[in-house]
Amino acid sequence: MPADPSRDDPVTDPEELLAELATLRSAVAAGRQTHVGFPVATDIDYSPLAPLFGSLLNNIGDPWTDPAGANHTKRYEREVLGWFADLFQAPVDDRWGYLTSGGTEGNLYALRLARARFPKGLVYHSADAHYSLPKCLDLLGMDSVVVRTDERGEIDYDDLAGVLDQHRDRPAIVVATCGTTMTEAADDVPRIRRLLTRAAIRHHLHVDGALAGVPLALADGRTSLRLNSTADSVSISGYKFLGTPVPCGVVLTRRTLQQQLGQAANYTATVDTTISGSRSGHPAVLLWYAIRSLGRRGLRERADRARELAAYAVDRLNEAGWPAWRHDHAFTVVFPTPPAAVTAKWVLASSAGRSHLICMPGVSKEVIDEFVADLADAVDPRPRQRKRRAPARRTTRPTAEVAPTTPADVLHSAPCPR
Ligand SMILES: Cc1ncc(COP(=O)(O)O)c(C=O)c1O
Repeated sequence: MPADPSRDDPVTDPEELLAELATLRSAVAAGRQTHVGFPVATDIDYSPLAPLFGSLLNNIGDPWTDPAGANHTKRYEREVLGWFADLFQAPVDDRWGYLTSGGTEGNLYALRLARARFPKGLVYHSADAHYSLPKCLDLLGMDSVVVRTDERGEIDYDDLAGVLDQHRDRPAIVVATCGTTMTEAADDVPRIRRLLTRAAIRHHLHVDGALAGVPLALADGRTSLRLNSTADSVSISGYKFLGTPVPCGVVLTRRTLQQQLGQAANYTATVDTTISGSRSGHPAVLLWYAIRSLGRRGLRERADRARELAAYAVDRLNEAGWPAWRHDHAFTVVFPTPPAAVTAKWVLASSAGRSHLICMPGVSKEVIDEFVADLADAVDPRPRQRKRRAPARRTTRPTAEVAPTTPADVLHSAPCPR
């Protein structure tokens, strides 16, 4: 039956609404502990900023033109962009960027910019690049070539050189990934740049650094993400390493490149240089708060601790007989997909017999120990169940879920290289 358009909605009692919101909040908090497969830091307390969520903050248009009125945070956005531009070593007099809705928008912006530079450009990205790339290419109507990766998820440089050579007649738009979604592999950006220079092909080199861009740039001595001589654009996610409570991201490039895209002033008093029109102004203050309260050193220490925990997780899993590995720079620990008893409780990311957990800031040693203990139980429940004094856990786990499984059962479909 069609809905009656004159019917009013039932109005819910305010106390009932608050109770429902409290239930939602508890459910989100309860799930946080076992949500280890996805890269979201949970250690930064953003609650002092909660009162700001009572107002609309709209950073419409270019970060360097302020809209009329006070309900925006462009000053904070510019400070945040300056911080990221310094981090990625963008030239002081030739830098530009804006705060996006997330990694996808950053990739979309960068590809649109690259297309403006090279309308006949051919896009190259690896087989392990994020799924947003094919979507952006489809939206922009750009041709692309998928480049092979090695078994640990890094782009195959010989394959890239080969396909570049086959298409020498077209400019190259190469997307390098710093932090692939399954293994957190980081393509070697300077090596790709050298390859492009040696091939003497006009090019735009974009870095999708959604997850690992910031931690890699924070690590001392890493020059791979320089926005002057190496990369032409970089995009990162704000809610991953910096754990903002709303999705957001940053895209950066050089101003001289950005100016190749059309930009028009309009009735909002701002210049329309971004993909979306209205943009939330909250992420600018959230990122500003994280940067100001922790500083580069605090952020670097968080990354170091996350890597130490990931190394610990690899050791613990290997000791438990479940072969695990990680890239040296990575927070991500890769291993054969555990038995159903484990995946029923722990939210892991799994694909083709492989799973990962990510030791983002906020994950503790205790969480890793509990995960490994659950895995050991699931692989060989009997002796450990006698040792563990946790009746609730024993009784709630159905027998079928703890059927002994060995890594060998799954390894045939889950290579654990090196
Ligand atoms: C490498 C990479 N690129 C892009 C994205 C897309 O980011 P978002 O979901 O913020 O649009 C992600 C998200 O997981 C990612 O890992």
